[in-house]
Amino acid sequence: MAVKTKAKVSKKTTTKSLSVSSLLSISQLTFQDVDLILRTAAEFKMSRDRGKVNQPLKGKVMAAVFEKSSTRTRVSFETAMYQLGGTMLYLAGRDLQLGRGETIADTAQVLSRYVDSIIIRTDTHRKVVEMARYAGVPVVNALTDYAHPCQALADLFTLKERFGKLKGLRLAYVGDGNNVARSLIFGAAKAGIELALASPPGYEIDKHTIELSEKDRRKSGGEIYITQDPGRAVGRADAVYTDVWISMGHEKEQAERVRIFKKYQVNTKLMAQAAPQAVFMHCLPAHRGQEVRDEVIDGSRSIVLDQAENRLHVQKAILALLMGKRKK
Ligand code: CP
Ligand code: NVA
Repeated sequence: MAVKTKAKVSKKTTTKSLSVSSLLSISQLTFQDVDLILRTAAEFKMSRDRGKVNQPLKGKVMAAVFEKSSTRTRVSFETAMYQLGGTMLYLAGRDLQLGRGETIADTAQVLSRYVDSIIIRTDTHRKVVEMARYAGVPVVNALTDYAHPCQALADLFTLKERFGKLKGLRLAYVGDGNNVARSLIFGAAKAGIELALASPPGYEIDKHTIELSEKDRRKSGGEIYITQDPGRAVGRADAVYTDVWISMGHEKEQAERVRIFKKYQVNTKLMAQAAPQAVFMHCLPAHRGQEVRDEVIDGSRSIVLDQAENRLHVQKAILALLMGKRKK
């Protein structure tokens, strides 16, 4: 979808850089970093919509290590690299020696002798931290059990595009206190969003995440409200967000989770408790009939496809900003 944006196209975009050399979690970014990523993404989106060729990463190569399934992240990163003038190498974890026990440290150091950046989707966050520690090139977290920063940054971009601002927006997240919820908390705290989360007992977001976001939240003027009641979280929200009840790696808990999360489904009745113009958000893939009903995700208030599209523009910004500078 072509959405009009008022941002000016600046030739300086890719000469600016982030305070970090790798993107592992939004909690490690500064307010300026988040702002720069969102503004740069708007510029990339506008130049794409105008049919302009913008290739700051000409000749650059990125390795994409995937130890979990992906549709959006894989395709949007590969498209982003191609459109920025570079190339992405898709590396399925099981096909690498990594899958046979080679260490992350050795893999990181070897890949860094060939490529200009590495993205990694894996199970434990520790692996991404280790990859960044040993790599001589920027590393981007393409999802771990702990965080999904590229998703949440695209979600902030989508909200800003829809509402024209982030500060003071009311966002309700209903469901599992998982990687997506955690990155939304970190993002909301940077952006001054009033975030309410409703999760069943035992599936709430951890205290450490709340503590870690506290300083940013106070500085930005955001709010965070935790409840077990989906109706309370959604009350007067501008946007209602949910994610799967069974994240990758939790498949064995399926029956138990479906039973526990039953009351946390986003349906027409729950959406009716939000603001009249509230939008529906989901990072996708969705499990229709579980966390969301067809009439909501396919309804006129759903912006899930904008979120998916904006992954492309936001990741272009992340790559251009990170790869435009030397790591060490
Ligand atoms: N939202 C998201 O990351 O989707 P994929 O798992 O398809 O990459
Ligand atoms: N929470 C989900 C997000 C998928 C994009 C998972 O980790 O599987």
